[in-house]
Amino acid sequence: MRVSTTQLATMKRKGRRIVMLTAYDYSTARLAEEAEIPVILVGDSLGMVMLGFESTIPVTLDMVLHHTAAVVRGNRTSLIVGDMPFLTYRGNPDEALRNAGRLLQEAGAGAVKVEGADTAATIRRMVDSGIPVMGHLGLTPQSVNQLGGWKAQGKTPAAAAQMLDDALTLQDAGCFALVLETVPATLAGIISRRLTIPTIGIGAGPACDGQVQVLHDLLGWYPDRTPKHARVYAPLGDIIRDAFRAYAADVQAGTFPAAAQTIDVDPALFAGLEPGGSRQSLAEGTVPVIIPSVEAGGDTLDAELRYGGGRQP
Ligand code: KIV
Repeated sequence: MRVSTTQLATMKRKGRRIVMLTAYDYSTARLAEEAEIPVILVGDSLGMVMLGFESTIPVTLDMVLHHTAAVVRGNRTSLIVGDMPFLTYRGNPDEALRNAGRLLQEAGAGAVKVEGADTAATIRRMVDSGIPVMGHLGLTPQSVNQLGGWKAQGKTPAAAAQMLDDALTLQDAGCFALVLETVPATLAGIISRRLTIPTIGIGAGPACDGQVQVLHDLLGWYPDRTPKHARVYAPLGDIIRDAFRAYAADVQAGTFPAAAQTIDVDPALFAGLEPGGSRQSLAEGTVPVIIPSVEAGGDTLDAELRYGGGRQP
């Protein structure tokens, strides 16, 4: 059973903090299931951390659909939230509804996320159509060109009051939760106390009802670009680069593959195929004589050659 939006409401009521993490692929989503992460966001941050764009603006609905479907295949227990990309939920409300519906119908998401409070009427329509919607206020990356860069929001009393009003508007529109990104901790605390729906903070201090982090920040994938709000729990950027170097060195030195990674037959069996060999000398129908690799524990050529991944039948 997947975590439901109503369970998140219960968690807020009971004071249990909500954990959310971004993920963009099958392999990571599997590990998130094993770690019992309740909510996964397939954020449009994928454009930056997975696809190398400078912002989230080039991300398309097809990209989010593709990544969300992979996450859903890898994870059977988390609530999967698909992010609605730039311009896919503004303008024509029918189109917005259709786009949100595709994330649920085609990709298998359990909810969608939209940025800003100006689309409250569209959000209400989605919610009334059975699509759970998560809101997002503060530093909303799709508006980065209007916000003048990646800057904290809600720093003045007027801006803070506006954000509180926007948060209440999104709650009234039927959002089941609200992301607060890069806002002063005091303001995030006030909004969290004023709302009945859970707030999920990123760079918004500890008083939110939950926290979300971008996977690559948490894993130190880009050590030169870790944002101030992130804590690196495993320096995978360094670990993976070192692993690549070690692999390259082993291949160049001829030490990989070793016996443990090798399957073989008695070379005499194929001797006729060697340069200058004679095919006539190949014994017809001879059963291969297998050289077992002790380390691999294998005595058959039908060794497990499948790539990792995929669920066991
Ligand atoms: O796209 C994303 O990953 C997000 C989070 C930063 C909340 O919107």
